[in-house]
Amino acid sequence: MKRIVILISGLGSNMQAIVRSCTLEGWSGQVAAVISNRPDAPGLVFAARQGIATAVVDHLQYPSRDRFDSELARVIDGFAPDLLLLAGFMRILGDDFVVRYEGRILNIHPSLLPSFAGLYTHRRAIEAGCKLAGATVHFVTAALDQGAIVAQAAVPVLPDDTPQTLSARVLTAEHLIYPRAVRWFVEDQLRLRDGRVQLANAEPQCLFWAG
Ligand code: GRF
Repeated sequence: MKRIVILISGLGSNMQAIVRSCTLEGWSGQVAAVISNRPDAPGLVFAARQGIATAVVDHLQYPSRDRFDSELARVIDGFAPDLLLLAGFMRILGDDFVVRYEGRILNIHPSLLPSFAGLYTHRRAIEAGCKLAGATVHFVTAALDQGAIVAQAAVPVLPDDTPQTLSARVLTAEHLIYPRAVRWFVEDQLRLRDGRVQLANAEPQCLFWAG
């Protein structure tokens, strides 16, 4: 049974999709804990209702990033995770933190990486005139949004899209690819070779979601 710990900052809709898939598909893994840096994150309520342990490490209570990262790692390690997931977790983590979990930490980013790392991805995609946008599940490395890509979902950018409408379309696609990628990790289907992800099974690592 692989133990999964999920970090959130808000609604945690990706976390919810992963929890549901884990249960419905009977993964040989369990979500051991959901941890938020914001005490008011609605995702905590969902997790608690599912009987999942929850914790808060409020970044506002720590004088530096290092102190926050250290406390976060201490709380995470209390749940002995095999896999750590960032799911709408809106804090940048320091190099020491990332190295501690290297090879067992995944993130979902709302763009087709390596395009549009960082924030405001949907507005930037619209302003650039992109006809496709999407989301990427990747291993987390010290370089922001640059780790090895596990899966990507593409969605169309429609002529009258706003960042909000595009974000909603991308989010629906996120809920399809993140649970799938996590299941691959839980099933030991992912290998890293020369900085790239190889998938041991024949499932597609890309998805087109028309919305
Ligand atoms: C998602 O687009 C995620 O990729 C981004 O934050 C958004 C909200 O995620 N990082 P969630 O509903 O909290 O999972």
